[in-house]
Amino acid sequence: MDEHIKKTRFETRAIHGPKVPEDGTRSVTTPIYPSSTYGVEYPGDESGYVYARWSNPTRKALEQTLASLENGSHAYAFSSGLAALNAVLTLLKSGDHIVAVDDLYGGSMRQFEKVARNFGLDFTYVDGRQPDNFENAIKENTRLFWVETPTNPLLHLVDIEKVSAIAKEHNILLGVDNTFATPFIQQPLTLGADIVLHSASKYLGGHCDIIAGALVVNDPTLAEKLYFAQYAVGAHLNPFESWLMLRGIKTLHLRMERHSVNSMKIVEFLETVDLVDKIYYPGQDGNKVPNEMIMPGGMVTFSLKADFDAVKQFCMATKVFVLAESLGGVESLINHPASMTHASIPKEEREARGITDGLVRLSVGVEHIDDLLIDLRNALTALRKHLEVAAS
Ligand SMILES: Cc1ncc(COP(=O)(O)O)c(C=O)c1O
Repeated sequence: MDEHIKKTRFETRAIHGPKVPEDGTRSVTTPIYPSSTYGVEYPGDESGYVYARWSNPTRKALEQTLASLENGSHAYAFSSGLAALNAVLTLLKSGDHIVAVDDLYGGSMRQFEKVARNFGLDFTYVDGRQPDNFENAIKENTRLFWVETPTNPLLHLVDIEKVSAIAKEHNILLGVDNTFATPFIQQPLTLGADIVLHSASKYLGGHCDIIAGALVVNDPTLAEKLYFAQYAVGAHLNPFESWLMLRGIKTLHLRMERHSVNSMKIVEFLETVDLVDKIYYPGQDGNKVPNEMIMPGGMVTFSLKADFDAVKQFCMATKVFVLAESLGGVESLINHPASMTHASIPKEEREARGITDGLVRLSVGVEHIDDLLIDLRNALTALRKHLEVAAS
């Protein structure tokens, strides 16, 4: 990255990330290099690009941009968020123990429980809102704390600085899944984390058109190990999707601002609705928002005073909010965790974790707020009618 650009602010670095010097065309945008292999000067020459699994100019430009935005030294782009998580697990060995937040993305938990356990890793899940819970769960063989903040779907917040202090005291690595907040809102490495993970399929891509993941670190030894995992396992991101992510990142700050403004207005509205039981939103519980999150982001979760089927009907009644899995795109999405993202968790366990049948998760997009509010109002009117009929 140009020395002058390196010193600029987040928004400028997001737009003017590294240029690709090899190109020579003065292209304003980073080109897509589809080449799988590169000519070398002599046998064994590894001074430049060799083979695209090792590195690729488009992916490299993206990785340098990601490192800069997360205040890290190195970043690696993967074929999905879960592929990035798998690379983190390659830092461990059979017999190691991990303490993770209990309100974890279901796919991450599935990888821990159904894949990593088979390789001899052990996991304990704790409520991450109390940092002491991490300390109390430490065993002799604990090597990694794994945190999401805000969590999915209950938007619990974890105090990264406090958990990092505990991790450092016990010589344990701290990894933070920063998918929901994005580096525009919070930068975990600055708060003491060792590894940042993104499902870039969400806000970094920003348009629901890629599946991608990323890891960012600030330590050369960790960087070397993760780079090894990237090229030895081969779950790197391809050039076209790298380019799409680079394009998405250029508007990340604009999108996050609008996502946040729209979500705050939706929360204000939900507070006035008698059918709404509880709202989950960063800062909503009256507690201080840790981690210097500069804005709340675009996720809003709430529970309705209605049963499983009625809530499903509510989610099907919106016309602007699309009923869909995933989140983080410009388009608003609505999700019923109990029958969608978290359906694979047995009901009792789900309920114990607070993921009740009445829970609805919104990924608030960047459409006009009035259209979003009208859409929710109309769906609530339909729900009211449904409940009246059911009661009569
Ligand atoms: C917080 C979080 N982390 C990780 C993932 C996994 O990412 P991907 O779907 O890109 O593999 C997701 C996906 O929904 C997620 O929400």
